[in-house]
Amino acid sequence: MQFKGLKIGVPKEVMSGERRVAVIPDTVKKLTAEGAKVLIEKGAGIGSYISDEEYLNAGAEIVGSAEKAYAAADIIMKVKEPLFNSQENKREVDMMHENQVLVTFLHPAAPCNHQMVKDLAAKKVISFTLDSVPRISRAQSMDALTSMSTVAGYKGMLSAADRLPKFIPMIGTAAGMIRPATVLVIGAGVAGLQAIATAKRLGAVTHAVDIRPDAVEQAASLGAKVIETGVPADIAVAEGGYARHLPQEWLTKEREAITDIVSKADIIILTALVPGKVAPVLLTKEMVLTMKPGSIIVDIAIDQGGNCLLSAGGEIKEFNGIIIDGSKNIPARVPVSSTWMFANNIYSFVAYLYKDGSLVIDQEDEITGKSLVTRNGQIVHAGALEAINNY
Ligand code: NAI
Repeated sequence: MQFKGLKIGVPKEVMSGERRVAVIPDTVKKLTAEGAKVLIEKGAGIGSYISDEEYLNAGAEIVGSAEKAYAAADIIMKVKEPLFNSQENKREVDMMHENQVLVTFLHPAAPCNHQMVKDLAAKKVISFTLDSVPRISRAQSMDALTSMSTVAGYKGMLSAADRLPKFIPMIGTAAGMIRPATVLVIGAGVAGLQAIATAKRLGAVTHAVDIRPDAVEQAASLGAKVIETGVPADIAVAEGGYARHLPQEWLTKEREAITDIVSKADIIILTALVPGKVAPVLLTKEMVLTMKPGSIIVDIAIDQGGNCLLSAGGEIKEFNGIIIDGSKNIPARVPVSSTWMFANNIYSFVAYLYKDGSLVIDQEDEITGKSLVTRNGQIVHAGALEAINNY
């Protein structure tokens, strides 16, 4: 039995507005069938419309507090990085113990998470981050980042549309013709392509920027007008087809190339990311100052520090009449679909790590090695180490 004798703790998420949960009744059934005891904090599924009773019927045990789940569990499955739990008046990290396994989105390279990652190491927690699972075909079922990015691109675009003080499509009115809004999507990966598709459905004139030729091609096939960055492919694309973190001189050139379209955009959706690294800064204060009041920026890359220098994690603020949305938990606003995808992805990941009731850590394995963040009191995640040393 894969999870024989193991206790899995599922605390209720504490981030403000977070409505997702790490397990659904279906995955509880799979975990218990393989010998695990699943301890779920009371009310953990409410935000995704899953009652305690449904979990009980699936074979879980409901515990009265997060502290109880943390204290008893060998493995903690959760959605977001450890934060402060105001109900317990404790940091989630402080409720964890030596050799406990944590599987979640840690975003370990983001500066706001550096201290938390250091604390996990100091506590000798064995932590894995789902945002570093490589996008290779054998890891497809574990790819929570792709699942959540799909939601973030869709909902990020819809929330910008909702805040925009004007129509998005071209509309013929009794007073005359209203021109369509201009949307710029920077980064045309999973989230960006979904944002482009949603913007097109809403009727926007949609522009896209990316440094990878493949991404540019896909954006164009969705009907976006591509803005050329001038970054050569050999500088932009690393091994495995991922984008490279650009040297400063190329980032400066890219910012110059997009300056004109930035000043014309009504909505900018920022999704540029280099896996495991701090997000590249593509919008400076000076660039934002050229935008029209009433325009909206949604910085979806905020978990990695953001693409706009002015965005702040978890905050929606106004600057010179421009709304800059740094919401950290966009998928939480589509909780039913997000939880369903996330729960299946994290289940597949945990199932991959355990054999006969034991955790198998093979750091040579691409999936395990890339997602491992702390082990034996050390930070081992390459992107986190680089970000911490350079910050
Ligand atoms: P992805 O890796 O599929 O796409 C990122 C794209 O950015 C790639 O196509 C890459 O080529 C491009 N890129 C990298 N450097 C660039 C540069 N200098 N200029 C232009 N493009 C550049 O990533 P995915 O899955 O689309 O995620 C995007 C972001 O959304 C990530 O930061 C992710 O963490 C975030 N996200 C945020 C959520 C939220 O609630 N705020 C939820 C889910 C994802």
